Amino acid sequence: MNPSKKILVTGGLGYIGSHTVVALQEKGFRVVVIDNLSNSSLDVLGGITKITGETPAFYSFDLRNKEQVGEFFKNNMDLEGIIHFAASKAVGESVKMPLLYYENNLCSLLNILSLQSSSKLIFSSSCTVYGQADELPISENAPTKKAESPYGNTKQIGEEIIKDICKIEKDFKAISLRYFNPIGAHASAEIGELPIGTPQNLVPFITQTAIGQRKQLAVFGEDYPTNDGTAIRDYIHVMDVAEAHVAALNRLIKGKERDNYEVFNLGTGEGNSVLEVIHSFEKSTGQKLSYKIEGRREGDITAAYADTKKANKELNWKAKRSLDVALKSAWKWQEKINKREDL
Ligand code: NAD
Ligand code: WQD
Repeated sequence: MNPSKKILVTGGLGYIGSHTVVALQEKGFRVVVIDNLSNSSLDVLGGITKITGETPAFYSFDLRNKEQVGEFFKNNMDLEGIIHFAASKAVGESVKMPLLYYENNLCSLLNILSLQSSSKLIFSSSCTVYGQADELPISENAPTKKAESPYGNTKQIGEEIIKDICKIEKDFKAISLRYFNPIGAHASAEIGELPIGTPQNLVPFITQTAIGQRKQLAVFGEDYPTNDGTAIRDYIHVMDVAEAHVAALNRLIKGKERDNYEVFNLGTGEGNSVLEVIHSFEKSTGQKLSYKIEGRREGDITAAYADTKKANKELNWKAKRSLDVALKSAWKWQEKINKREDL
């Protein structure tokens, strides 16, 4: 592989970032993390070290600070690539605080793009750019829909900015990865998802309910035009997502003649309903879950799952972990953090 290659991972102590740092270190990359700890904790460094036996170099500062970003790149001229995870990601919060989202997600990206010392970038995008697609599974050619939230809009605008730069800077190579629904944790349960406050996403809400931290899970809507009436998503193990980043990075490093801006879906290609997720959780963990059907959540779509052919072929990558395995890992992580007093 590429033992000496130095990679910057922004947001590398966050949920997907930390799992990607592990996957990179396991493949011999040297990792440097920038994270302002706005949605993560320094303990994550310890978790990464326990798994890989290696601690990534760590810089704690805010990517909105242009001076610090410039200083960082001046001192790190030998970067082979950048994986840019750092962003605010709560859809509901973004509706209430649009300025925070536009500022954090776009200023950070602009600072990186204008000051960076590498010519290879991977950008964390989201299936949210498709909205409710007309055809399922959703391929990368599906039209993007007007974003429902400022958060979703920052992903669309972010993609457009990168694409525009790639048009004029032919030596610059970038890949946007559109994640479907990442779930689960590293099998060791040394790192995982750490939602602050009440989780908005399904799986952390399930595990917190099963452990007794929440009384009951509300299933949002049972009148969708699906087999069991609940909404369908493509839940993908976070380690599969992490490994896809290594594959995308290797594609950028190999640098063959091809479009210098590319987009890939990261999903399993399978859709599961909310009730199927609940039943898979109960079956794989032996935990009984208390849940109640409630009304639809505003802004939710009926169904989304990925056409993964492009990523499978071009990145030579495929999600390999099942929904059961992912939910079991999420549960193991929940049990572990409930025993820890420092979290
Ligand atoms: P996360 O909040 O766990 O990780 C983001 C990390 O970035 C955090 O550690 C946070 O402290 C850091 N950060 C935020 N703003 C920063 C700033 N200005 N300067 C420095 N550090 C900053 O989120 P995640 O779930 O790991 O998501 C990673 C990326 O993937 C985000 O861009 C998110 O929008 C995108 N994404 C996530 C999902 C998902 O379901 N989790 C789905 C699609 C896309
Ligand atoms: C999944 C399903 C809910 C919670 C969000 C963002 C999207 C992307 C991924 C970043 C839905 C149902 C949920 C609950 C429920 N993130 N649900 N009870 O909505 O697909 O996507 O995360 O880019 O932008 O919008 O994920 O996990 O919130 O919901 O019934 O308490 O579970 O209605 O059908 P979603 P989710």
